[in-house]
Amino acid sequence: MAQAQAQTKINVPNDLEPYWMPFTANRAFKARPRLIARAKDMHYFTPDGRKLIDAAAGLWCTNAGHNRDPIVEAIQRQAAELDYAPAFQFSHPKAFELASRIAALAPGDLDHVFFCNSGSEAVDTALKIALAYHNVRGAASRVRMIGRERGYHGVGFGGVAVGGIVGNRKMFGTLIAGVDHLTSTYNRAEQAFTVGEPDWGGHLADELERLVALHDASTIAAVIVEPVACSTGVLPPPKGYLQRLRAICDKHGILLIFDEVITGFGRLGAAFAAERYGVVPDMITFAKGVTSGSVPMGGVLVRKGVHDAFMRGPEHVIELFHGYTYSAHPLACAAGLATLDLYREEGLFERARKLEKPWGEAAMGLKGLPNVLDIRPVGMTVGIDLASKPDAVGRRGLQALELAFYDEDLTLRAVGDTLAMSPPLIVSESQIGEIFDKVAKIIKAVA
Ligand SMILES: Cc1ncc(COP(=O)(O)O)c(C=O)c1O
Repeated sequence: MAQAQAQTKINVPNDLEPYWMPFTANRAFKARPRLIARAKDMHYFTPDGRKLIDAAAGLWCTNAGHNRDPIVEAIQRQAAELDYAPAFQFSHPKAFELASRIAALAPGDLDHVFFCNSGSEAVDTALKIALAYHNVRGAASRVRMIGRERGYHGVGFGGVAVGGIVGNRKMFGTLIAGVDHLTSTYNRAEQAFTVGEPDWGGHLADELERLVALHDASTIAAVIVEPVACSTGVLPPPKGYLQRLRAICDKHGILLIFDEVITGFGRLGAAFAAERYGVVPDMITFAKGVTSGSVPMGGVLVRKGVHDAFMRGPEHVIELFHGYTYSAHPLACAAGLATLDLYREEGLFERARKLEKPWGEAAMGLKGLPNVLDIRPVGMTVGIDLASKPDAVGRRGLQALELAFYDEDLTLRAVGDTLAMSPPLIVSESQIGEIFDKVAKIIKAVA
């Protein structure tokens, strides 16, 4: 009987039940699945052949567009040449090559790279490096982490602890101890319908002084923020905010970590947001765009001084007891190198800078449509807040996502009732027009 059941299961390749989907309303999805079978450049194709324009770069990751030939070929070549080399005590040439290429893109003396496999791992790695850094310098009392309300730093215990999205936190106990949070920089009354960085809110960085006064600098290891908080609906930093955070961290010997898992690799028209804002943090976490989403990879860029603090003591001793079996996996490195080549050859970061204006203008064209409470374009991304339905927060957003997929041949992100978009950086101006025409229709339809 059991065998018969197992056999039936094997014979039903499209059984949707066993896969427990991440960050998804599983039952709603399985009642009406949204499956994607193929992709090329700006488009997805469903199993039945429908062609959808991807306004979300997958999940903010396929910055070079989908299934680009040079990346596909590099992965294929690498798979045939070297599938795996041990990440501990051995390595392979492309790991060093990619680290050098990424370091060359980073500002200041952010010149060392620790590899992992995702944004969540990158965040936990950066937090651990911060703790260990203070420890090796003899400042082991610096254990406290400061995050920010509405921040998203992935789903590891460290990342959730410094993150500030209640749904991600409330089920998981005490997370890690000793974390505090800055307030969110978003204030609709002061900032609504701003293109780019709002004028109001730079002073909110001074909150860090309040937290230092409360906890004492000698207990604080690091502050971690996203330069633009994207997952919570695209919240650009107020003018001067990041610079002030940097100054206060410097004053108190606190490490500043920029989580650039989304903002890295061209999303804001520069290799990293650190460059756009003229602020050099002590560490930058990255993932997603480093391989244009093609193979999982993440990492942490670390300033020379932080790295060098570990490079003391006997040479046969491991300096940092941390790492992953798949740190700098050969397929990810090959994909990363091909992706960085594409970014450079096609000038995609400059392209993003040029497209920012028409993108922002097209986004602001939605102002005045029903339920639109705010529109926040910055770089090649935007958050559009829709009013929630009474007693059904998130329903309008999900309806918009469903309408986009089924009726308008468009993929976007719905975060509660906020629509977020971040197209591949190869998007054309006419495709920008197409995307916002579709979004306007959707917003009207869910009114
Ligand atoms: C800023 C930031 N940090 C971390 C993460 C987590 O990345 P991953 O899903 O690859 O673990 C994300 C994902 O969206 C992110 O936006």
